[in-house]
Amino acid sequence: MWLRVESDPVAQFARWYERAQAEVKPLPDAVALATASRAGHPSLRMVLLKGFDAHGFVFYTNYRSRKGRDLARNPRATLLFYWGALQRQVRIDGRVERVMARESDAYFATRPRGSQLAAWASPQSVAVAGRGTLERRFAAFARKYPGTVPRPPHWGGYRLVADAFEFWESGEDRLHDRILYRRARSRRWRIERLAP
Ligand SMILES: Cc1cc2nc3c(=O)[nH]c(=O)nc-3n(C[C@H](O)[C@H](O)[C@H](O)COP(=O)(O)O)c2cc1C
Repeated sequence: MWLRVESDPVAQFARWYERAQAEVKPLPDAVALATASRAGHPSLRMVLLKGFDAHGFVFYTNYRSRKGRDLARNPRATLLFYWGALQRQVRIDGRVERVMARESDAYFATRPRGSQLAAWASPQSVAVAGRGTLERRFAAFARKYPGTVPRPPHWGGYRLVADAFEFWESGEDRLHDRILYRRARSRRWRIERLAP
């Protein structure tokens, strides 16, 4: 079967994403994020995609986490969606930048109070003495911020600005479709079919 291929990879992604929203359960927005340290050590974890458009793909996290430390030194990253119900995966390579503070503020303000307090209480990716430490910190921030919880300066969004996309769809007899889009120097997208 021939895949219908859009000339713009973001339009292609939007079409697949819409299907995933309708058919993939749970968490169609869950995506693996690969980073690498300056020394080239890879690491991988799941995050939730919170938005995308022609400018890039946005997720939120703690800037001091392991991923945050990696990205501060090496902004190259890859996102990988796997939508099993559709037998599809999408890989997106690019360079990551922080979103504007006011964009992070706006998103943080929409989060439940518990999530907001947890962003203060949890020094993500750092060893803690025990669960009690986290609970005490959470309670202390709840007392400190009885009303509106401000966004912690170390918590916010990243935007992956894509320079390559690969759309993979399972095919008969393992002749899967693989469509690669690469940003050419002219800023136009070059489209190739890869062997599965
Ligand atoms: C389905 C799923 C979604 C997740 N979404 C996020 C997220 O959006 N942001 C985040 O910081 N961590 C998220 N996590 C936790 C991360 O996978 C990870 O444990 C955490 O960010 C610390 O990663 P690091 O030590 O590599 O920086 C999610 C985990 C799962 C299983």
